[in-house]
Amino acid sequence: MTMKAVLATRYGSPDVLELRDIPKPTPKPGEVLVKVHTAVVGPSDTAFRKGDPFIVRLMFGLTKPRNPIQGTEFSGVVESIGEGVNDYKPGDAVMGMGFSSHAEYVTLAAKGTLCHKPANVSYEAAVGICDGAATAMTFLKQVADVKPGQRVLINGASGAVGAYGVQIAKYLGAHVTGVCSGKNVELVRSLGADEMIDYTATDFTLSGQTYDVVFDAVGKSSFGKCRRILTPKGLYLTTVPTLGMLGGLIRSRFTTQKAKFATAGLMQTPESLRHLMALAEKGVLRPVIDRRYPLAQAADAHRYVDSERKRGNVILTVAG
Ligand SMILES: NC(=O)c1ccc[n+]([C@@H]2O[C@H](COP(=O)([O-])OP(=O)(O)OC[C@H]3O[C@@H](n4cnc5c(N)ncnc54)[C@H](OP(=O)(O)O)[C@@H]3O)[C@@H](O)[C@H]2O)c1
Repeated sequence: MTMKAVLATRYGSPDVLELRDIPKPTPKPGEVLVKVHTAVVGPSDTAFRKGDPFIVRLMFGLTKPRNPIQGTEFSGVVESIGEGVNDYKPGDAVMGMGFSSHAEYVTLAAKGTLCHKPANVSYEAAVGICDGAATAMTFLKQVADVKPGQRVLINGASGAVGAYGVQIAKYLGAHVTGVCSGKNVELVRSLGADEMIDYTATDFTLSGQTYDVVFDAVGKSSFGKCRRILTPKGLYLTTVPTLGMLGGLIRSRFTTQKAKFATAGLMQTPESLRHLMALAEKGVLRPVIDRRYPLAQAADAHRYVDSERKRGNVILTVAG
C-alpha cells in the first residue's frame, strides 16, 4: 500500500518539495496510525525545508534532512492502532504534533503529543489552533506567567503566534496592545486587543507606554530596543533564535528586566494540547485561517509562508 506525501530530500527553496507515492506506514506497538485530514504550513516547516537557522541542520541532518517527509501539526482520524494502545481506537478524531504530517497518513506514539479533537471544533480549527496557540500559551503562561491586569504588548499580532497570543493574553486577563501593519489592525482588534499600534506608522518602542511583557511573536525587535518600554521588572520574550537574541539573553542576566526565549514546539504534551482544545471547545480560542492549499500544492503554501505576510494559519487540506 502506498500514500501521497510531500518530501524534501535536500534543503532549499520551495522547489525542493516533491509530492511522491511512498509506502503507507503501519503502527508499531504503542503507536497509532492517523489518516490525516488537515495540516498546516508555518515558519517552522519552512525552516525545516531550508535548513535555516543552522540549529535545524544540527538537529535534523547536516547536509540533507534525515527524514524527508515534511510537516509537524495535523488533525485527522485514527485508522488503526498498534499493540498495547488503550487510549485511542479506530475512528477517533484526533489532533497532534509529530513529524511527517504532510502526508495522507502519519504514525506516532499514542503517548506522544496527541489528543482527542472535540466534536464542535473542526479539523481545520484544531490544527490551526495548535499552530501558533501552543507556542503563544507556552510563552505567555509557562514562561511569563501573565497575570490579570498586566500590560502585554504583542509584536507581530497578525501572525499565527501573535493572533493566538492576543486571544491567550486576553484569556489570562491582560490588557493587550497589538502591533501589526495597518491592513491587519481590524483583524487583531477583533481578536480582543485593547489597543493597536500600526508599525508602519509608529515605532512601538517609542510609544512612551510601558509594558510588563513584550512578546515579540515575530522576532523583529530586540531586548535592547524594548527595554525603554518595559517596566523595571518587565520581560521581553522572543520566538526567534538569533545572535542578537543570545546577546539580549546574556545582557538580561545583569538587569532586573529580563529577556527569554523558548523552544515551545519541544515543550508540548498531551495535556497542553488538551488544554488548548478545551479552550477551543468553549470558544475562548477562535481559529484565524488565511489560506488553504491542497497537499499537491504544498510548495505554493511554502512560498506564501516565506513571504512573511500570512495572517494566522495557512492550511494544507489533505483529505476531504
Ligand atoms: N520558538 C518557538 O518555539 C517557535 C514556535 C513557533 C514559531 N516560532 C517562530 O515564530 C515566528 C512567528 O510565526 P508566525 O507563524 O506567527 O508568523 P509569520 O508567518 O512568521 O509572520 C507573519 C506575520 O508577521 C507580520 N510581520 C511581518 N513583519 C513584521 C514586522 N516587522 N513587525 C510586526 N509584524 C510583522 C505580518 O504582518 P504584516 O503583513 O502586517 O506585516 C504577518 O501577519 C516565526 O519566526 C516562527 O519561526 C517559534
